[in-house]
Amino acid sequence: MSINTALIQQSGAALQSLGTTVTEHFYDYMFTHYPEVRSLFPAEMTDQKLRLFQSLLFITGNVDKTEALLPYLRNLGVRHIRYDVRPEHYSVVGKCLLATLKHFLGPAWSGEMAESWIGAYNLAAGVCIEAASEAMKPDRYVPITLADVP
Ligand code: HEM
Repeated sequence: MSINTALIQQSGAALQSLGTTVTEHFYDYMFTHYPEVRSLFPAEMTDQKLRLFQSLLFITGNVDKTEALLPYLRNLGVRHIRYDVRPEHYSVVGKCLLATLKHFLGPAWSGEMAESWIGAYNLAAGVCIEAASEAMKPDRYVPITLADVP
């Protein structure tokens, strides 16, 4: 599957002018279709809608700059450990994100754009999940010994 990064950047630019209506729609869609993930999030979602919106703009703006994008995604993945996010949740978010993009991009949403977004999201989710898994590896624990006691 080929990823046309120019199309992803274009869709990011189109979202920018729409503002957080986009993430508002995303969360409404997700909580309606996947109510089981609602409890992961706080009751008050105003800040989160803005954070996700800014994050999407950053990701789409840097989709062809792996040196900026990869560390960003790795950190994001590790931070999501503390939100109790599991790999299967990334599938839910991906489906809802694509549905949201299709909804807002209207006629600009083409087959090639859909394929590019699917490819890019799968890669991004993979980086987040891999980084979280790496951060949780049991061998990162170094057993303490008597020498550690002051
Ligand atoms: C690539 C996909 C994702 C992106 C770009 C993303 C983006 C973000 C951002 C920017 C934040 C703000 C806090 C921070 O940066 O640490 C955040 C928080 C959060 N995300 Fe994600 N996220 C993604 C996937 C997921 C998934 C799969 C879930 C679970 C369904 C999820 C659940 C949460 C929760 C629960 C919070 C904390 C909300 C709070 O306590 O205020 N995220 N996410």
